Amino acid sequence: MMRFDRFVEEALYGPQGFYTQGGKAGENAGDFITSPETSTLFGECIATYLDQVWQELDRPDPFIVIEAGSGCGTLCRDIFLSVQECSSALRYVMVERSEVQRDEAFAIVAATCFLEAEEAPLTAVKDLPTGPFTGVVLANELLDNLPPRVVQKTRTGWSELYVNNGREEWQPAPPNAQNMASLLVPNAPPGTCLPLHLKAAVWVTRALNLLDRGRVLDYGLQQTKDFVERPFGEWIRTYNQQHRAGNPYAEPGSRDITCDIAFDQLPGFPQIVAQRDWLLSQGLHAMTEWARGQWHDSAVAPDSGALGARAVLQEAAALTDREGLGAFLVAEWRVGE
Ligand SMILES: C[S@@+](CC[C@H](N)C(=O)[O-])C[C@H]1O[C@@H](n2cnc3c(N)ncnc32)[C@H](O)[C@@H]1O
Repeated sequence: MMRFDRFVEEALYGPQGFYTQGGKAGENAGDFITSPETSTLFGECIATYLDQVWQELDRPDPFIVIEAGSGCGTLCRDIFLSVQECSSALRYVMVERSEVQRDEAFAIVAATCFLEAEEAPLTAVKDLPTGPFTGVVLANELLDNLPPRVVQKTRTGWSELYVNNGREEWQPAPPNAQNMASLLVPNAPPGTCLPLHLKAAVWVTRALNLLDRGRVLDYGLQQTKDFVERPFGEWIRTYNQQHRAGNPYAEPGSRDITCDIAFDQLPGFPQIVAQRDWLLSQGLHAMTEWARGQWHDSAVAPDSGALGARAVLQEAAALTDREGLGAFLVAEWRVGE
């Protein structure tokens, strides 16, 4: 019998784990779609943000950008292809736990963005480096892959989820988990299930402690109270080869297991904005206005430029969809200001 978070840890990152074996984001060979895999516009907006933060931090050189959970390197590639003002100071660190993806990502980014791999201001490492430094720590859909503990309200307190031979088993939760759950949602009705994001909170603390000045940026967040009405199977999801993959306990290692994140369980006081609004404010609005004009002018006899403009409009719509990626939340922590 394993506590749920330990079961997921093994199923994702153990020797036969989903990510250890090469599970990844991506439209063609991947298992699920993320914003960087949806469109290069996402990386272009982050590049605009990095240029702006670099100016706000008085142009530090080096300007360290750490991308955690960098997967197959798509976001890193798009950032290197788009950054402008900060490009000569930029030193980029991809942090990826999966060795397969780490090696693949380094090779792809170095080959796509630089003439000589040795000259790329880029490293790929397994864990966060040591600080302090001035720069940005960013992550897209990392926290939801840091396994939570799961508790359920009973008539007398809280029980905790374990996995026993592929089946759920609920045991009385230890006092610290009971206290945490009661503080987060004091009036939860019996039957309420909650994630406890201890690993995600530790990760954010480590990221914040890395910086003397800078920003930490993460995506895909909610609030603990939003979980009360939602069944467990809605906020813990599994994916494999672009499909929802059902039971999280079946055939450990065969599927991604991901959990919505409650930002009120994370440390500090981040600014929270919907991804849609955040991207529009980081240049996406201007890009779509330009593309709309291009398409409008040549839609009758579209040339390749017009078709490119139409693709921009379609991809921007996917990234800002209020029912989809656009509804994700972006959290930004500011350090040293
Ligand atoms: C959902 S994928 C997101 C990949 C990419 N950021 C994207 O948006 O397409 C999460 C990634 O985080 C990696 N990961 C999980 N825990 C990590 C950790 N503690 N440090 C670095 N990477 C981690 C996983 O191996 C996986 O590649």
